[in-house]
Amino acid sequence: MFLKEFDAIVHNRRANRKFAEDIEVPDAFIYKALEHAMLSPNSSNMQLWEFHWIKNPDLLQKFTPICLNQTAAKTAKHLVAFVGRRDHWKEHAQWNLNLVKASIGEREPTKKEKRGLDYYGIMMPLVYRRDLLGISTLIRKMVCFIKGFNNPFMRINGKRDQNIIVHKSCALAAQTFMLSIGAQGFDTCPMEGFDPILAHQALQLPRGAEITMIVAVGKGTTEGIQGERKRLPFEKTIIIH
Ligand SMILES: Cc1cc2nc3c(=O)[nH]c(=O)nc-3n(C[C@H](O)[C@H](O)[C@H](O)COP(=O)(O)O)c2cc1C
Repeated sequence: MFLKEFDAIVHNRRANRKFAEDIEVPDAFIYKALEHAMLSPNSSNMQLWEFHWIKNPDLLQKFTPICLNQTAAKTAKHLVAFVGRRDHWKEHAQWNLNLVKASIGEREPTKKEKRGLDYYGIMMPLVYRRDLLGISTLIRKMVCFIKGFNNPFMRINGKRDQNIIVHKSCALAAQTFMLSIGAQGFDTCPMEGFDPILAHQALQLPRGAEITMIVAVGKGTTEGIQGERKRLPFEKTIIIH
């Protein structure tokens, strides 16, 4: 139904590295794109993310060297940092658990509802918990080994797996944001080229937070596009089984 529009949005989105100096991006467009980003698919609906909208001119300026003096950052009218918040897992698991409990009320839970209670009450702590001695990881590994011995099982072991889960969802949110900005007639440049320590400090993030990427927003220019879009051949990328 919307294929033509979607096609245009996907084809028009380019990583634009230089934004027009004299064209502002109204806040309403960023709000809209952030609302769209919030609707992105995310692991277990845990929403372990935050979108830090950098619109203050002083902070924007501070981010130019943090983003390694990239022109995209220097000329951006707004920056949005997509931040993974694994450290929010307890609070968000409880939020989901409360939603399930509220829908059950005083009656006995159905089988499906019981699964929901177990999912957020037992499974999420198993997936996301960490401790200094690594006991949670050991327990997770044991559960994966035992449960997965004869059966298919999601094998989430250590910190790396936990981080990947969080960054996957966060990257999807960034993509939704960029497509939404594109649909509204403006342009973006996703950036992993930044100093994570300095960016962390500038956004006053706690230790548990990790920045997935920073997206620069503005009105793109032709100089901002590095030539024709190049992709590997379809057969090299799409493997049909
Ligand atoms: C995770 C990620 C990080 C990126 N980091 C940067 C960056 O730091 N600087 C930059 O100029 N482009 C960056 N890009 C943009 C890519 O170089 C660009 O998407 C790619 O060359 C394909 O071009 P297109 O987006 O115009 O299709 C990044 C893209 C992604 C997805």
